Amino acid sequence: MNRAQFVGADILSMRDFDKNQILTLLEVCKEFERVQGPILQGKILGSFFFEPSTRTRLSFECAMNRLGGRTIGFAEAQSTSSSKGESLWDTIKVAESYCDIMVLRHPQEGAARLAAEASAIPVINGGDGANQHPTQTLLDLYTILRRAGRIDRLKVAMVGDLKYGRTVHSLIRSLALFQCSFWLVSPPPLSMPEDFLEDLADQGAECEEVTDLGDVDSDLDILYVTRIQRERFPDPLEYERVRNAYELTANSVERFESRLTIMHPLPRNTELDRSLDQHPGAAYFDQVKNGVLVRKAILALLLGAVSE
Ligand code: NCD
Repeated sequence: MNRAQFVGADILSMRDFDKNQILTLLEVCKEFERVQGPILQGKILGSFFFEPSTRTRLSFECAMNRLGGRTIGFAEAQSTSSSKGESLWDTIKVAESYCDIMVLRHPQEGAARLAAEASAIPVINGGDGANQHPTQTLLDLYTILRRAGRIDRLKVAMVGDLKYGRTVHSLIRSLALFQCSFWLVSPPPLSMPEDFLEDLADQGAECEEVTDLGDVDSDLDILYVTRIQRERFPDPLEYERVRNAYELTANSVERFESRLTIMHPLPRNTELDRSLDQHPGAAYFDQVKNGVLVRKAILALLLGAVSE
């Protein structure tokens, strides 16, 4: 598979990736376990975050610094001219003069695609509203591969806010490419949107929707837990009704087989108790660690610093 296709490309949505492209990218990530040194010296990453972030922003900036590049950017929209009414299009047209590649997080769905149309440099989507978070998916897939030894035909339960959670929206389609089967566990108001379910059906993925984790079979490979996305609820009362829908503890996962891997994109609230941190399958801090590695590989690939 050709790595050159990634040079100068945008990373906007996992819908744009086929299985071979994912595997090519994961192979480069594996090589980056060993790659060190200033291969991106002289390059500048623009890190433009219109929404709060800890991991995505810092891991991109860390990855760029570790590879010898530099970063510029902002972590809140109030400090930019968007607070004076500047359009996203204009902000991006201006920002592209200052950097070689950019990562953008924005509350509006489709913002990253708009930025990619406006700019001539590669745009990476660091999360656009409830829509997509492709680099989170790539680090999730890498973590799954490291933990489970494969991605194919895994039994995966996704738990929590499946309506507004962009991490699960990005991840589910990619896992379906690998013939995984799914338990979708959510309160009814937070179930997986219809278009994602139709997409899964088109791919022939087995999928069962339940409200209780107790209904999930015990021979599970991956338990992917998500935060209820308070900031996306139009009605705060609706959030209050579901905020504590799942509060998993070490006891809640006892009945699952020992191969279970427990994942969460973080930040967590009450859905994942700290008693789970001692579980041998707890992989959420591995995900954080892999985030730097995967983002190093992505930056180097898009900037043409990875050989065939
Ligand atoms: C996620 C996000 O921003 O979508 N966090 C992340 O990037 N690791 C998940 C969340 O905010 O719940």
